[in-house]
Amino acid sequence: MTSFFFSPLIMKLPVLTLLSLSCFHFSHSFTPRYNSIFSFGNSLADTGNGLITSAQQSPGIGRLPYGMTFGRPTGRCSDGRLVIDFIAEAVGLPLLPPSLASDQDFRQGANFAVAGCTALDSAFWEQRGLAGIFGTNDSLGVQLQWFEQLKPSLCSTVRECKDYFGKSLFVLGEIGGNDYHLPLLANRTLEEVRTYVPYVIETISNTAEILINEGAVDLVLPGAPPSGCFGVLLTLLPSPNKQDYEPQTGCLKKLNALAMYHNELLRRAIGKLLSKYPGVRIIYADYYGPVIQFVQTPERFGFGNGALIACCGGGGPYNFNPQAWCAQPGATVCEEPSKSIYWDGIHLTEAAYRYIAPGWLSAWSHAKVH
Ligand SMILES: *[C@@H]1O[C@H](CO)[C@@H](O)[C@H](O)[C@H]1NC(C)=O
Ligand SMILES: *[C@@H]1O[C@H](CO)[C@@H](O)[C@H](O)[C@H]1NC(C)=O
Repeated sequence: MTSFFFSPLIMKLPVLTLLSLSCFHFSHSFTPRYNSIFSFGNSLADTGNGLITSAQQSPGIGRLPYGMTFGRPTGRCSDGRLVIDFIAEAVGLPLLPPSLASDQDFRQGANFAVAGCTALDSAFWEQRGLAGIFGTNDSLGVQLQWFEQLKPSLCSTVRECKDYFGKSLFVLGEIGGNDYHLPLLANRTLEEVRTYVPYVIETISNTAEILINEGAVDLVLPGAPPSGCFGVLLTLLPSPNKQDYEPQTGCLKKLNALAMYHNELLRRAIGKLLSKYPGVRIIYADYYGPVIQFVQTPERFGFGNGALIACCGGGGPYNFNPQAWCAQPGATVCEEPSKSIYWDGIHLTEAAYRYIAPGWLSAWSHAKVH
C-alpha cells in the first residue's frame, strides 16, 4: 500500500512506520501527517504565483521590504511566512512551491493561490460590468484547472489518485475577499456586493466537492478576516459617521458584518458537505476571531506598533497611502514587523500569521470524521 510518493515521508518520519495505514488519519491527539498539501486562494496564501503571472502589475511584492523577515522577496504579500507556511512546517512538509514555478517537484504539494484573484470567474464579472477591475483572472476555477493539469504528474489510475489525495491536505482559501473589496473600491454599493456572497460560497463549496470526488478527505476552509480593519478600506472607504466604526477597535462595522455574513454562509455550506460526505473531514478555519483579538488587545500579543497601523506604507492614520504603497517610492517600513499586526494595509505580518496557524491546527483535534 505504500506508494512511491508516500515513501519519502516515511523515511523522514520513521515513527509513521509504526502506524498502520488505517491509522494514517491519526487518532485525534496526534499532529496530522500528510504526504502533500494543496493550497488554493489569494494573496493571503500566495507563495509566488502572483509575482510569476503579473510582475508588471504588482512589481512591489517582488521587492524588499516584502520578504524582509523571510530573507528575500518571494511574492508572499508579507514580511515573512504565511499561515500556509506554518501549516506546512507543522506537518513536517517543505514550504509549498507556487504551482506556476518551473523546475519544481510538486509531489509534496503545490500552492495554486494567486494574489489579487477572486473566487468567481470573469464571466460573472462581465455580466456586472466589472471584468476590467481585477489585476488577474486566475479565479478559483482557473486554479482548479491547474490542479487537474498537474494531476498526471502525481498519480495515474483513479485508484492511485484517490489513495494519494486521501493522504493530502487541501486548504481552500481564504478566498472571496477580492470579490467584495475590489467592486467596493470601484464604487459598487455594499448592498450589491452582499448579493455576491452566496455565489462566492457556492463556488468554494463546489470546488471542495470536486476535490472530495478526486479523493480528498481532509480539507481546511478558512473564513474571511475582519476586512473592516484593513487600512486600505479604512482609508479609501471612510465614513463621516462615527457610529459606523466599532468603538472597541475602530474598524468599519459594515465591512466586518460582510465578512461575518460570508463566514456564516461558509459554515453552513461546510455543514451540508459534511452530511453529504461521511468520512470526509472539513475544518472551518477561523481567520476572523484571532485577527479581531489582535486588534482589540494588541499588547497581549506583543503588537506594540499600534493595532490598525501598517508596518509598511506611505503615511496617513493607518500608514496606508494609495499614492505610495509599501515598496513604492515614498513608503517606509517599521523597524520591527513582529510588533505590527498589519504588514501593508491589507496583509498581515508573519508574526500575526504565526499566531493564527496553531488555532487552525488545533481545530483538527476537535474535528470528527462523520
Ligand atoms: C480578464 O478578463 C476580462 C474579460 O473577461 C478582460 O477584459 C480583462 O482584461 C482580463 N484581465 C486580465 C488581468 O487579464
Ligand atoms: C469612485 O468614486 C470616486 C469619487 O466619486 C471617484 O473619484 C472614482 O474615480 C470612482 N472610481 C471608479 C472606479 O469609478
